[in-house]
Formats: sequence, C-alpha cells, structure tokens
Amino acid sequence: MTEQTKPTPTANQMWGGRFNAGPDAIMQAINASIGFDRRLYAQDIAGSRAHAAMLAAVSILTNKDAEAIGEGLLTVLSEIETGKFQFRVDLEDIHMNVEARLKEIIGEPAGRLHTARSRNDQVAVDFRLWVRDQCDAAITGIEALMRAFLAQAAAGADWVMPGFTHLQVAQPVTWGHHMMAYVEMLARDRSRFVDARARMNECPLGAAALAGTSFPIDRDMTAKTLGFDRPTANSLDSVSDRDFALEFLSASSICAMHLSRFAEELVIWSSAQFRFVILSDRWTTGSSIMPQKKNPDAAELLRAKLGRILGATVALFTIMKGLPLTYSKDMQEDKEQTFDAADTLMLALAAMTGMVGDMTAQTATLSAAAGSGFSTATDLADWLVRTLGLPFRDAHHVTGTLVAMAEAKGCDLPDLTLADMQLVHAGITAEVFGVLGVQNSVQSRISYGGTAPAQVRVQIARWAKELL
Ligand code: ARG
Repeated sequence: MTEQTKPTPTANQMWGGRFNAGPDAIMQAINASIGFDRRLYAQDIAGSRAHAAMLAAVSILTNKDAEAIGEGLLTVLSEIETGKFQFRVDLEDIHMNVEARLKEIIGEPAGRLHTARSRNDQVAVDFRLWVRDQCDAAITGIEALMRAFLAQAAAGADWVMPGFTHLQVAQPVTWGHHMMAYVEMLARDRSRFVDARARMNECPLGAAALAGTSFPIDRDMTAKTLGFDRPTANSLDSVSDRDFALEFLSASSICAMHLSRFAEELVIWSSAQFRFVILSDRWTTGSSIMPQKKNPDAAELLRAKLGRILGATVALFTIMKGLPLTYSKDMQEDKEQTFDAADTLMLALAAMTGMVGDMTAQTATLSAAAGSGFSTATDLADWLVRTLGLPFRDAHHVTGTLVAMAEAKGCDLPDLTLADMQLVHAGITAEVFGVLGVQNSVQSRISYGGTAPAQVRVQIARWAKELL
C-alpha cells in the first residue's frame, strides 16, 4: 500500500458533478497545466470571444449574454495583462481559469459560453493560434538573419578564402559565396515555416469533444473571425491532431541545425589557429584565469541549442505515436516542449543575427589560407585537360605527382619551376602559372551557382531584391 497524500477539499467546480471528493494533491500536481498553458491566455480569450459571437449570430445565445461574455472576457484579458489575475491550480488549466473568472465577473451567462464546445477543441484552437504566431515570428527572425548574411556577402563578394571538404582545404572560394550558402539554407527554412503555416491554418473549433455538436453552429464564421482559411473537415481529427506542432518543431529543428553548423564554423574560424574572423566583444566572453582568452560562447551555445529543439521534437513524436483517436491527456504534454523549442529558436535566431552582423572577416588571413594546401590543384588539372587535351583522369594523375613533388620540396604549386613541372609532363608550358593563382581560380568558376564573384553578385542581387 502506498501512503495516501491528502485529497484536496472539494470536487472540481467545472466538472465535479459526479465526484464526492477532490483529487489527491499529487494528482492535482500532475494534472494541472496552468503553470505553463497560461501562456495561451490571449488565444484562449480570442477563441472564446469568437465562439460567443458566433453562438449569438445563430441564436444559441442572446445578444445580451454574448455581449456580457465578450466584454467580460476583455476584462479578464486586461486583468491577466496587468498581472492582477489570480491563476488557480485547482482550476487545472487556462480554459477553466478564464471561464471561472468570467463567472465571477458576469455571473450566470458565463456558464453558457461552453455550449457546443469542449476543452478538446478549445485547446486545439488555442494551441494552433499560438503555433501559427510562432511560425510568423520564425519567418521574421529568419529574414533578419538572411539580411545579415547578405550584408556580409555583399561586403566580401570577392574576398578569397579556402573552401573545405572533410575540413581539408579543397578549392579557393569567395567569402560572399560562403555567406550566400547560408542564405540558401535559411530560405529553405523560411519556406518550411510558410508551408507549415498554410497547412495548419484550419480551425478545429466546433469539433466539440470529438463528434461535432447537435447545435446549429456556424464553423465558417469562427474560422474567419480567427483568421483561419476554413474549418477542419473531420471532428475526430480536429481534436486529436498535433501535426501543426510537429511540423513547427521539425522545421525548427532543421533551422536550428543550420544555425548550429554556422556556429561550429565560427568556433573554428575564431580560433587562434584559423583567425578567419574576429567576433565582437558583444558575443564573446573572457576567462577568469586566462587573461588572453576571448571565448566564442554565443556560438557554442547556439551549437548546443539544437539539442533542446530536437529533444522537444522527439518528445512530441513520442507522445503522439501511440495515441488512439481522439484526444488523450498525454497531449497536454505537447505545450511545454513546443513553448521551449519556440523560445529557444527565436533567441538563437536573434543571437546569430547579431553575431553575423558584428563579425569581422580577416581578409589577409583568409587570402593567405586560400592559397595553402595546394588549393589550386584542380585548376592545374583543368588546364592540362583544356590546353594539352589530356583525359581528366590522366590530368588528375599528373597533378597529383606535381603536388607530391611540391610537398617533398616544402613549397606550394606556384613555387615549382617550369623545369620541375616538365619532368612530370613534357607538354607543360609557362602559361600554366596563370591558373595557379587563387584570384584566377575563383574568377574562373563562373558556372551558375559557382564561386566566381560575378556569379555571387547575381545571387546577392536576387536576394537583395526580395529582402531589402
Ligand atoms: N489542459 C488540457 C490540455 O492541455 C486541455 C484539454 C483537456 N481536455 C480534457 N478532455 N480533459 O490538453
């Protein structure tokens, strides 16, 4: 026998009709969601006001009652917004807290508000409205970050830097090109939020508990009032669906993964070994013991934030995956996860926007690094193909031999003499030195989407037109 904790004194005033005793105190603690779902107060009140106005329009409520409800809800709203509202755990959640207070303010008509409605469609509409706002906020935040990357790209469309594969120097690229890669990623992120928003924009209000209602409600009216495109078409699905939150979380996870990748680059680039960028004092911290340190804490934290967001995503998938139709109380666990993920994403976007705006590319270091690691070896191989007509595979082999030779001599490719080169392939002429320079290399990559400054400027112009 487990020890019983004390029951709370009275049965719930909203649904306690058939109960003789109140819930165990621990039951109340595990059951109540008011600690977190109070965040839905504005959506809850907007949903209830739309519902009451509709009930009056179809003569289920008198105009007088509907007006009293509408006005009373505005009073509740202002009480919450000015911090005067007393949230009560015994009233479980935001829906019952608002309604109970409405009853205190307007009396009997408050009890008519819940006609043709259930907390199941109520929470579904509240949460959808909240997630829809977060999609808008994410889109705005992403666009600000895109503009920050765009400004960096425009400043350095022709600054050269090493491009990496396997984090080994691969070919020279331009700073602008690298920045614009993130603009493309963020554009996909933005479109995921736009798509998710469009798909979630159907109104579940009026599905009632699960089966619809016998009252002659006008679901088109409430949908329209709340800015939805249409009402949802299946009442069972309406109260059991959390796809909108899952899509928001999935899109957030992908976006946070992108932020994490750039954060990782910043950590590497700002290290003493790379010195590609200087992060501003605003986004770094010092060490309490090592006076020389300037740690990229904001970048490190951004790299870690995906963990939380992805964690929330996995949590909600796990909550939902085993639930039979329709509503189960498990679904109350959707909110804290989504709230935390949304807060984290907005903070991460804002921090990254600040960091990108403030960072200073070290152009001399970037340029020197761009020429290291035999970065123009591909240009040499391409020259052998173009000028001497070698098959690419042979050109690759010749170039590889030249790289090995330079490595043995401890020099870079342009430092080899013509005589050295001709030992490897007799056909090589002095003209080859023209393609071994880093500038030449990036200028030559003019294929669509390539790293040549001319191409990068085409992309910058395209995005500037849309974002600026
Ligand atoms: N607090 C609940 C939630 O967040 C509201 C819906 C309650 N519905 C019910 N049938 N108990 O999911």
